[in-house]
Amino acid sequence: MYSLLQKILFQLPTEASHNLGMTGISLADTFCLSRLVAPKRVDHPVEVMGITFPNPVGLAAGLDKDAKHIDGLAALGFGFIEVGTVTPKPQPGNPQPRLFRLPEAKAIINRMGFNNLGVDHLVEQVKNAKFTGVLGINIGKNKDTPAEQAVDDYLICMRKVYPHASYITVNLSSPNTPGL
Ligand SMILES: Cc1cc2nc3c(=O)[nH]c(=O)nc-3n(C[C@H](O)[C@H](O)[C@H](O)COP(=O)(O)O)c2cc1C
Repeated sequence: MYSLLQKILFQLPTEASHNLGMTGISLADTFCLSRLVAPKRVDHPVEVMGITFPNPVGLAAGLDKDAKHIDGLAALGFGFIEVGTVTPKPQPGNPQPRLFRLPEAKAIINRMGFNNLGVDHLVEQVKNAKFTGVLGINIGKNKDTPAEQAVDDYLICMRKVYPHASYITVNLSSPNTPGL
């Protein structure tokens, strides 16, 4: 199944494949089909910093930057989901192309530049999700915020996401945002 899907997805530009894949994951959840392709969530609890994770394999930030697919991703068995990086204001990120496949290394290179729809939009998405598991929210600064005011961006995001997050990740080092 994966090799067939991969052949189809690799015909598309990288970001179109990503968007199609994520839509597919959400649709599979809506139509209760996720169990056909994903194993049951592994029960192997781990406690870290007072949070009990049902298993230690989670989804890293960057795949679901705007928290649009939380329920679909949760149905795949992750022990936790981290959404973002989100910034106070929406921003487009770097110009495309900015995501490149390296098929021979089974890898990708990215220089996305924190493309996202902003923290208010993310919070609405989180509120609409049914997921009750461990949710991390990853926060960053806008590209046009001077480095000396970065703390304000982190505080804006932290205050808005705090009631909705199991934990917050402060993203303060990215090669794709100048000066960060
Ligand atoms: C396309 C892409 C976008 C990413 N965006 C973010 C991001 O917005 N925030 C972040 O903290 N990490 C981001 N990352 C880094 C991932 O969260 C993760 O640390 C990295 O991919 C290494 O984990 P892996 O070896 O499982 O891929 C991104 C990675 C990729 C490939």
